[in-house]
Amino acid sequence: MSNSKNTILSLRNVKKHFPIKEGVFQNVVGQVHAVDGVSFDIGAGETVGLVGESGCGKTTIGRCVSGLEPLTNGDIFFDLTPEKLLALEDFEKHQSEIKNKHLIDEIQSTSNISKIEGDDFYNYRRNCQMVFQDSFSSLSPRQLVSDIVSRPLKIHKVCADNELIPRTIELLEQVGLGKQHLYRFPHQFSGGQRQRISIARALALDPKLIVLDEPTSALDVSVQAQILNLLHDLQKQRGLSYLFITHNLSVIRHMADKIVVMYLGKVVEAGKTEDIFSNPQHPYTKALLAASPDLSEDVMSDMAALDGPIPDPARPPQGCSFRTRCPVSRTECGWEVDDIIRRLEHHETLIDSIKSVHQPDAFNAKLTFETSLSAIELKDVIGTNDIPKQMRKAIKKIEVDGNDVNISFDPVQTVPLVQSDNGSLSRCVLANK
Ligand SMILES: Nc1ncnc2c1ncn2[C@@H]1O[C@H](COP(=O)(O)OP(=O)(O)OP(=O)(O)O)[C@@H](O)[C@H]1O
Ligand SMILES: [Mg+2]
Repeated sequence: MSNSKNTILSLRNVKKHFPIKEGVFQNVVGQVHAVDGVSFDIGAGETVGLVGESGCGKTTIGRCVSGLEPLTNGDIFFDLTPEKLLALEDFEKHQSEIKNKHLIDEIQSTSNISKIEGDDFYNYRRNCQMVFQDSFSSLSPRQLVSDIVSRPLKIHKVCADNELIPRTIELLEQVGLGKQHLYRFPHQFSGGQRQRISIARALALDPKLIVLDEPTSALDVSVQAQILNLLHDLQKQRGLSYLFITHNLSVIRHMADKIVVMYLGKVVEAGKTEDIFSNPQHPYTKALLAASPDLSEDVMSDMAALDGPIPDPARPPQGCSFRTRCPVSRTECGWEVDDIIRRLEHHETLIDSIKSVHQPDAFNAKLTFETSLSAIELKDVIGTNDIPKQMRKAIKKIEVDGNDVNISFDPVQTVPLVQSDNGSLSRCVLANK
């Protein structure tokens, strides 16, 4: 979409995988897919809320955006003019025929945060600041407030030495503190005041974007409201953009213009705040809303609250990654052999009698049992209600051959994000119809 404002941040298929290391030699035995192909944009003066359960990758995205983590894959662009955004979108659609090669090259070298150098990098670091949940550990306990808030001014040589203290006082006043707080240590403040100090420090270099990672989650409700109002006011005065990370849906409803809902490293739904709350599309979003006790009753959700464990992000389910907990899952959600094995938890003796599993891919497996009786038992169990009907119907083949059982499912692709009627994007086979 084009408008006259710049796009402050544009994430394109961002991936961040962490190696899992084991043993004395720290061999890499797998990868945690913390962020797995995330794309969204933040416009100038806009707040984008990033929500999802613990471990879905929110903080990792914040750290990637702030340049604290190198990306495994994908791109993050900073401050694109409408013209540059259009050129980039066009380039993504028609990679083979590059119309604007010089403009694409310019975007890569001046706006791609993994590629920019020199002044452009310096400019980006000034313009993107971060505020964390835990103000205790993010503010150095041995530094005075005057040092904490003036440090970015000093490092980036923003003003003359004799101007440092007046500038620092100005910043403190903007966040509701004052001169009297200059020569105190962080532990002499309340949690809300400490968060104000963190915000003053983030504002020091007059950034365009602030990444706020659970900025009010450690505060009680009345203080939380004051900080949220402060953030609102600062945004209005300074035209700031926020990437607001939280698992608190009532906070995000109050703060965000757009919402990105994440599950296991992927975006499952994204849209305007009012659309997400009044007409959620994805079963996960509906379940999250249903699980949020402090939302007023006008939030629509016909879904049961969330149930069951989140799958291991080192082996994220293919197809739809939410299907293992989804109350309305279908045959076509993309089931795989692991789903059956996960469902056997009540059949301990059967699990114990598995001798080996040969799994060329997620959708095919040969399970070898100690005895042919166990092999037959597995086939019987798969016929019972321990395996949900929609999963059972997705099995393409199940054959007992002596002590072996061969199981196969139809391979599936990751469910794409598609536009739904209300304009939101949703990654669900139901929306895909
Ligand atoms: N440095 C790291 N090394 C290995 N794994 C990591 C690292 N940082 C994060 N992870 C893993 O990446 C996944 C996403 O973590 P992240 O902290 O981004 O989640 P989150 O959405 O911020 O969760 P929370 O709501 O609890 O803060 C988790 O499975 C986590 O264990
Ligand atoms: Mg986090």
